[in-house]
Formats: sequence, structure tokens, C-alpha cells
Amino acid sequence: MRFTFIFTLLVAAASYCRADKDVFHNDQAFDAAAYGVYPVQHYRSTDLVSPRVNVLQSSSECDSSLYTLLTPRGSSTSESTGVILDHNGNLIWTSAWGGQQIYNLLVQEYKGQSYLTFWAGNDAVGGHGAGFYYMLDKHYNLFLEIGAAGGLDGDLHDFRLTENGTALITVYQVINKDLSELGKPFVGEIWDCLIQEVNIETGELIFQWRASDHYKVSDTLRDIGGDGGIGRAFDFFHMNSIAKDLKGNYLTSSRYMHSLTYINGTDGEIIWIIGGKRNMFEDLSNGHATNFAYQHDARWSKENTEVTMFDNGVDDLHPNIADTRGLRLELDQDKMTAKVVAEYKNPHHIHGISQGSFQTLENGNSFMGYGNTAAFTEYSHNGTVLCDTHFGAESRFGAGEVQSYRVYKYSWHAWPETNPDVAIAENDDGEWTFLVSWNGATEVREWVLQGADEAESDEWVDLERILKTEFETEFEIHTSYPRYMRVLALDSTFRILGVGGLLDLTLEKVIEDSIVNSTSSGNDINHLTQAWSLPPLRIEEGDTWWLKIMLGFCTFTGLCVGLREAKVVWRTRRRFRRGSIAFQHIDPAILHA
Ligand SMILES: *[C@@H]1O[C@H](CO)[C@@H](O)[C@H](O)[C@H]1NC(C)=O
Ligand SMILES: *[C@@H]1O[C@H](CO)[C@@H](O)[C@H](O)[C@H]1NC(C)=O
Ligand SMILES: *[C@@H]1O[C@H](CO)[C@@H](O)[C@H](O)[C@H]1NC(C)=O
Ligand SMILES: *[C@@H]1O[C@H](CO)[C@@H](O)[C@H](O)[C@H]1NC(C)=O
Repeated sequence: MRFTFIFTLLVAAASYCRADKDVFHNDQAFDAAAYGVYPVQHYRSTDLVSPRVNVLQSSSECDSSLYTLLTPRGSSTSESTGVILDHNGNLIWTSAWGGQQIYNLLVQEYKGQSYLTFWAGNDAVGGHGAGFYYMLDKHYNLFLEIGAAGGLDGDLHDFRLTENGTALITVYQVINKDLSELGKPFVGEIWDCLIQEVNIETGELIFQWRASDHYKVSDTLRDIGGDGGIGRAFDFFHMNSIAKDLKGNYLTSSRYMHSLTYINGTDGEIIWIIGGKRNMFEDLSNGHATNFAYQHDARWSKENTEVTMFDNGVDDLHPNIADTRGLRLELDQDKMTAKVVAEYKNPHHIHGISQGSFQTLENGNSFMGYGNTAAFTEYSHNGTVLCDTHFGAESRFGAGEVQSYRVYKYSWHAWPETNPDVAIAENDDGEWTFLVSWNGATEVREWVLQGADEAESDEWVDLERILKTEFETEFEIHTSYPRYMRVLALDSTFRILGVGGLLDLTLEKVIEDSIVNSTSSGNDINHLTQAWSLPPLRIEEGDTWWLKIMLGFCTFTGLCVGLREAKVVWRTRRRFRRGSIAFQHIDPAILHA
């Protein structure tokens, strides 16, 4: 009996303490879908919603300076969004795109500047897409919208800027083809696949390559089934990545040929093929270097001596024939040999039936997004799992209820032209708090809450400073605080990036979005910057070690619940005694009575 009681307390303590955290850590209930197929995080200072991830494993060997970029979509998401998370899984930026589907969120360079790039459009056209490519600058303003050349639809699979300021894009087009080789007694429709290289500013077509000029329909490993008739174009090739090397040649991946094709950038002729029916390489790894299947995202690595890919190994019709792996191959293009350098296998035996990405990071690690499966994993170069995260419940993997075409890691620095979002709200302990967040702001190091007795005051006093660690930062509002409040966002050099507020506590609402424009270099900001001189805010690790031990102990024993409840009751009683509280609801105006 007593044991049951203690156990119940323990469980309650665990879930109570967990409820405070934005990110789950190795939470089995998460993977059993106890919080839903796609747990999300809500905020109080904004209506934004973001994935609430489960970090299964993390390591100091992972590149923590980079952010994670994903595009969650699927039947369990409320809408398709682009999402940037920090290394710990906290939100940095999220946005939808006019109700369209978003794919392939990357950071790419153009003329020395970094841009967020992605595809958005309609993905319900049979495994590919009809849409446009977008580039957002470091203020999240639209820099360019790019379409395919020749009046064709821009497909979702790839959009890569080259160092020459052109873009490589995938294009799908229905054409008629004699299908007798596949046992059909007629000329029928197929989805042809094109590589286009376009000038992104003029739209001029620089290079075009057509799969059907170089591959026969019978080279495919896909069963034609009932396809090929009118309105049922047969997807024989399914191009899903393009890369261009310094020699000016193209490397493309074909899901249904199970092959990569290396294409001469001058005359478009095939230089070589690896994998599939027309493989030209000798396999020095007992067949494991050339047996990839339904693969995605083929890229050059190590000065074009290595090729990496996301080897699905399976598709929707053959979901269990292999485990999905990342694959790093060493190619000798003179001897025409291929050798496995490393395989990257997820310990959760993921069967990635569609999509997926493979990225070699600058520190040598390999980073994979599992496409149809809501997971991303960072591996050391040799294939050891270093960091592993789920953004959907593992028990539902394969159902595709939440998926992200690719997941990549990049460095990203951005200064949104909005103002920080602020709100006041009661927290779980019934205390009034001031909340602030700023979608997309990457450079905020700390928030400074300031107060004044007059809205137009020249004398704002600092009330509290908090280092930003999560998307939304919470300040407790103390009874001694003045009537008006605002919050400053400071970067690591104590420059003011923006101001959130003004908040009037007696009205219990934000009376102005902001007193100054965060992005304007106008007088207000300059005035504030000049008036500002702050010592660095430091966390005194030494002072709090005993607190941490106590907290750890109370979490472990379940006393935590009791302690926290006691604190709330005590504060509430104190307010009652002072006559400053009525009923359950604490009116912030009363805090100033
Ligand atoms: C860039 O342009 C130069 C000169 O035309 C060409 O040699 C090179 O292959 C191009 N590089 C890419 C990646 O397109
Ligand atoms: C590419 O094509 C050009 C022009 O036909 C030819 O001179 C060159 O040798 C080809 N390159 C390769 C690697 O086949
Ligand atoms: C593989 O990499 C991990 C992590 O860097 C390292 O601990 C391990 O020793 C390496 N294994 C081999 C066989 O090199
Ligand atoms: C803030 O900046 C925007 C864009 O630069 C401008 O349109 C707006 O008028 C500015 N608002 C204020 C209050 O200065």
C-alpha cells in the first residue's frame, strides 16, 4: 500500500516536472504515441506551433553550432510548415506558406549572402510536385521566386544553387512513349524527368537533360502495373536529386532505376551509371556498394572521390525487404570500381519507404533525415550514432502521418523585421508572468525586462535579465513592479536588437506592439543603444550546486510536487492575508493595489 503510494507520487512527480519542459528526452510514452502521433509545442506569446521533439540520444561530438531545418507535413499536422530548431530541439523559426506544401528547406549561398531556400506548391500530382522555389533573405523577406523554364512546373525534389549563381532544378513532364517493351500494346503516357539549369534572375535556361533521351522505359525496376494509359502516366525514372561538380558535370539520382547517373555538362551524354540494370562499376564490397534501391539525395564528397546517398532500400510496395541505410561509397572513376566506405544504420531499424536525406557536415559527421519517418540522426564518420531525435511517435513510423522530405543542418543568422511577441499570462502556479518570443531571431543572447510608472517614461528601470535558452522566455511579475513594462532583446555585444511591449499591467494587455522598430536604425534605437551599458550576465555555477542536488533529489523522490504545491499555496495565502486577492483569479491590477 505504502509502496503504491510512493510509486504514484514518483510517476506524478516525473510527469509534473516533465510538463515544464519543451523538449522530451528519451521518453518512451512519446514513442508509444501517448501524447499523440505528432506532439507539438504551443506558446503563450504567439500562436505559432512547433514540433515537440523527443531527443533519444545526444553527444558533444554532434555539431551544436548548427540548426536543424525540417518541413513537417502529413495528416497529423495541422498544416505544412518550415521549421528551424536549435541543437537542443527548441524552436528558432517556423512559418507556413500560404496553405501550400513546403519541401526541401535549406540554407544556400548566393553572391556571398545566405538565404533560406525551399519549394512550395502542390504535391498531390503523383509523387512529385508542381510549384515554385523561394529564397528568403536574412530578414525573412522574399528575395526571389523561381520557376522552371519553358512553362513547365517546378518539381519539389531538388533546388540547388551553384557557385555560378544558377539553379539546378528537377522537372517532371508527361510525354508519350512506346510501351511495348513493358508488355503494353500501345503508346502511352510516362512521367519524363528533366534536369534544368536556369539563371535565377533572368529565368534563362542554361542546360537541360531529359531522362527519356538516355534511358529506355525497360531500364526501370518499377512494375508498370495498370499505369501507362491516358491520365495514368507511368513514373519510370523518378529523378530526386541533382548535383553539379567543378568539372561542370551533373550527378542525378533515379529512384526507380536504382541508379545514379553522371552526365557530361557539355554534351549531355552519360559518362557512367552506378547501380540498377545498367551498372558500370565493379563492386569491391561483395555487392553492397551497388545494391542500393529507391535511393535519394546523391552528393559528391571528399573532392569528388566519394559519393553519399540516402539508401531507402525499400519503397511503399516493398516496405520490409531491407533496412534503410546511409551509404558512403568510394569511386575510382579510372578503374571503374566502387567500395563501401561506411554505412549509417539507425538502431531503430527504420524502413524509410519514401523521401530522405543525407548530408556530410563540415566536421566530418553524417546527418540523415528519414523522410516518410519522423526522425533525424547524426552519425560520426564511421557510422556510430551520436545524436538521434524523433519528431513523431515511433509506434506510428511508416504510416506517414508526419513526415519531412529532408532534414538538414546549417548555420543560419537572421534578423526578423518584426518586433518581439509579448504577452502576460498566468503560469501553472497561478503567478502572473511576462512572456516574450521572437520568431526567427537567431542573435538574441538575453532578454531584459524593464519597468516604468509612465508609458512615455524616459526612466525605464531594469527589473530582471534572463539569458535566452528556449524559444519563449518567462519573467515572473512581482508585486513591486511598476505599471508599464517592456522587454529588450540584446545580442552578445549588448546591442539592442528589438523591443517588445509596451505592456500596461492595469489593463492586462499589450497596449502597443512595440515602442520602436526592431529593424529600423532610427533614432529610438540609437538613443537606447547609447544609453545602454551593461555588465555581462553570468550564471554563477558555484552558487547553485546545492540547489541542483536538492532539486534532483526532490525530483527523484517525488517531493517536488509537494514542494511546488506548497510554494503556490503559501504565495496565495500571503496574498489573501494582504487582501490583494479575490477568488481564484488574480487580477494583475491588484498586484499594484
Ligand atoms: C561555372 O562557370 C565556369 C565558367 O563558365 C565553368 O567552368 C564551371 O564549370 C561552372 N561551375 C558550375 C558549378 O556550374
Ligand atoms: C564531355 O563532352 C565533351 C564534348 O563532347 C568532350 O570533349 C569531353 O571529353 C566529354 N567529357 C567526358 C568526361 O566524357
Ligand atoms: C567510430 O567513431 C566513434 C565516435 O567518434 C568512436 O568512439 C569509435 O571509436 C569509432 N570506431 C572505430 C571502429 O573507429
Ligand atoms: C517600422 O518599419 C516598417 C518597415 O521598415 C515601416 O513601414 C514602419 O512605418 C515602421 N514603424 C515605425 C513605428 O517606425
